[in-house]
Amino acid sequence: MNTLLSDSAPTPAGGNSLGQTLTIRGGRPLVGRVDVKGAKNLATKAMVASLLGETASILRDVPEISDVHVVRSLLEVHGVEVTELEDGVLKLDPSGAVSANFEEIDAHAGASRIPILFCGPLLHLLHQAFIPDLGGCRIGDRPIDFHLDALRSFGAIVEKQPSGIRLSAPNGLHGANIELPYPSVGATEQVLLTAVRAKGTTELRNAAIEPEIMDLIAVLQKMGAIISYEPNRVIFIEGVESLRGYDHRSIFDRNEAASWACAALATDGDIFVAGAKQQEMLTFLNVFRKVGGDFDIAEDGIRFRRGGALKPVTVETDVHPGFMTDWQQPLIVALTQAEGESIVHETVYENRLGFTRALVQMGADIVVHPEGIANSDRRVPRRALEQAAVINGPTPLHAADVVVPDLRGGYSYVIAALAAEGESTVRNIGIIRRGYEKFLEKLTALGADFDVTD
Ligand code: EPZ
Repeated sequence: MNTLLSDSAPTPAGGNSLGQTLTIRGGRPLVGRVDVKGAKNLATKAMVASLLGETASILRDVPEISDVHVVRSLLEVHGVEVTELEDGVLKLDPSGAVSANFEEIDAHAGASRIPILFCGPLLHLLHQAFIPDLGGCRIGDRPIDFHLDALRSFGAIVEKQPSGIRLSAPNGLHGANIELPYPSVGATEQVLLTAVRAKGTTELRNAAIEPEIMDLIAVLQKMGAIISYEPNRVIFIEGVESLRGYDHRSIFDRNEAASWACAALATDGDIFVAGAKQQEMLTFLNVFRKVGGDFDIAEDGIRFRRGGALKPVTVETDVHPGFMTDWQQPLIVALTQAEGESIVHETVYENRLGFTRALVQMGADIVVHPEGIANSDRRVPRRALEQAAVINGPTPLHAADVVVPDLRGGYSYVIAALAAEGESTVRNIGIIRRGYEKFLEKLTALGADFDVTD
């Protein structure tokens, strides 16, 4: 029987629950139903967007995850009143927004990457902003040069300081012509959140177009923004004088849905992911089927299970509509059980395959090529910083003692331990709460056998 600590208790930024440890008895398939709520990578941005409105906003399907708590806390130190109207429904009232003091903001340093997106809204509201050093998963350098270049294009004065970034816009912000060197999700959000209230028109080229970006555009349009999405990754934004609050239900979390699908493959399970939708997961579903997975699309979700022996695949991560980089880590766990050689080209981040070392410790046969692998039938342009993993299977996984490195890597360790024979120890599981709501409760509902200790 699993001894659960309260999984829904909010995890204060960097709270001590990062130290929690799972003891997992593996070798059992995960079977049952999980409910996936709103996307971590939209809900947090929509919360920031509420700062731009002159009236209160309502955000629905907000997941109970620590990334949301960090953004809520940062909004509150800026005087935004955030109240939970009911489970998963937040009311965000920016009418009392004020400058926050350095200490309060700095308390959030290192907790997430979202604070960088406060720049535009705070500059419009207060003509100044201070952004603490960012956190987020250690899957690469995670530079913010695209963000700072964009803000300067809008007329902001940007000073990088040892403790964070100080910005000012004494004369307000004006429209800009911006071409991103890479379709960066965060930089695209930075431009959207700044351009909507800038004086004049902004043209953004080489923009990210992930479903979460389109959902953020929907949120801003509800607020009164004028944003046109053109062909070939071009987005035009006509700045407006003022915006009002929105009422929005977040898009579902594609990353969590894909993670549970890979868990079904890895443990030979059968998982119904309520809330998952086919349209936003087309590319994932193609790979899932090629690996030997079987899925049924229902009105209210998707059922994922193995369709027989798992088969090897070659996957290149890419920006949308390609195979998302966030999906590759749980997929690699499943590929350790496929019969043959699989290759995963990680083209988005320069260090997102380090997590495989612990899988090798558990018996997997994975070789990481730090400089990537050149091969003829590439569909995604090779990037200088890309890496590749070659996975040979099937290899039986055995128990190990591992430490969670990052959000998706940590999730991957848990499903690897669930697929492995024996009793594994997975440490620092608090990081997983950044992006997976009620994670331990869901594992219990799926029949996982584990204990939690502080
Ligand atoms: C968002 O990160 C997501 N996080 C990531 O999900 C996701 O992996 C990523 O988009 C790609 O889809 C959130 O939305 C909070 P990027 P972001 O800017 O915006 C380089 C998860 O597991 N780059 O699209 O930080 C960067 O180094 C997380 O939920 C610059 O060089 O990603 C990377 O190589 C992990 N300079 C590439 O672009 C910049 O100024 C893509 O980064 C910005 C980015």
